[in-house]
Amino acid sequence: MELDLSPFRGHFPSLRQKYQGKRLVFFDNPGGTQVPQSVIDHTTSYFQDSVANVHGGFLTSQRTDAVIEECHVGLAALLGGAPDEIVLGANMTTLTFALSRSLAREWQPGDEIVVTTLDHDANITPWRMAAEERGVTVRQVDINPADCTLDWADLTSKITPRTKLVAVGWSSNAVGTITDVRQVVALAHSVGALCFVDAVQAVPHIPCDVAALGADFVACSAYKFFGPHIGVLWGRREHLERLTVYKVRPAPETLPSRWETGTQNHEGQAAINGALEYLGGLGVSYIDRYEQQLGSASGQRLTLLAALHVIEEYERDLGQYLIAALQSIPGERIYGITAPERAAERVPTVAFCREGLAPQAIAARLAAHGIAVWSGHYYALALVERLGLAQTGGMVRVGLAHYNTRDEIDQMLNLVEAMRQGD
Ligand SMILES: Cc1ncc(COP(=O)(O)O)c(C=O)c1O
Repeated sequence: MELDLSPFRGHFPSLRQKYQGKRLVFFDNPGGTQVPQSVIDHTTSYFQDSVANVHGGFLTSQRTDAVIEECHVGLAALLGGAPDEIVLGANMTTLTFALSRSLAREWQPGDEIVVTTLDHDANITPWRMAAEERGVTVRQVDINPADCTLDWADLTSKITPRTKLVAVGWSSNAVGTITDVRQVVALAHSVGALCFVDAVQAVPHIPCDVAALGADFVACSAYKFFGPHIGVLWGRREHLERLTVYKVRPAPETLPSRWETGTQNHEGQAAINGALEYLGGLGVSYIDRYEQQLGSASGQRLTLLAALHVIEEYERDLGQYLIAALQSIPGERIYGITAPERAAERVPTVAFCREGLAPQAIAARLAAHGIAVWSGHYYALALVERLGLAQTGGMVRVGLAHYNTRDEIDQMLNLVEAMRQGD
């Protein structure tokens, strides 16, 4: 049965906005997604009924505690961990810098860490700076430029008994490549190193199970999966308990509080509850369709997993439609995996360039017609440099979400095609 997720568009008020008589089109999703009404409702309700600081005996403080508890339970259901292993913070970058300082205290001069050229800079620079402070050597894994996958031979040669940490991305924010992070975790653990997985661009698109991944840390960002601007870090309990954390003395030593420095964004956590409520509502309609894959999952995890399965299936089809359409335009070059038989190795984030036209010019032309795309390096700086595109303005990036449609892709391609013809 062909999937039709268009009824779910109705949950997103921002999709109804018009510009020059036409609906706005959001293909900027890897930079941040739109939010459903439930996010707006939960935020409003928090501000109306529950604003307070935590752990007081009075009503609004108790409500705040309940919102925070619900948020950690929900994110644990989404990621597959335990609620007290979920650490919230300003964003993934800030959480990663904080974690890097804690981890680096255990490194010695002569130790090594491994980062990759495929990653967003938030999974490179925090580790590089921590390594520099500790006299630790950084080894950066190369890519195969032809399809923008990790160079596996290079990866295996760079992970040695001296390696303390391997920082790897699950899915590229620029070219959409999915890396087999389970294998990377296994390699890291085989030499006694820890593995940090940047799942910011994976969690919105594919089911996540931190237990099955086996990683030590998995980071993501709620604003990439229809929620507010908050970062999320799952950590293995033993590490979260053991590591020295940069915190003030009166703050609790318990998990996850010892990592959640200062007063948190409570209204944002209410908003996350709204995003998860939306996703659960999406998933509940598709439990039967994915019965086999859902295994023994139950409760909130069951509906959230079902949501990610249907999102994955729908987006894979839409992504293939986009790639095929771009390929049909002469002079268009897509960076990353394009073969239909390898569709499962990528998320629907597609980066392209076209001969004779600056990426910024294409993005500006689309923006003038109410279509949002990004151009440039989007902080995947190492990758864009490796591809030799740093001096020519990077690539145009079209990132799809489940609320996008073929019709929206056609609108964009008509404009790109018109540019080719000199309109
Ligand atoms: C793959 C990836 N990692 C990390 C980040 C940084 O996330 P944050 O904005 O939450 O710091 C992003 C943001 O776009 C990203 O795409």
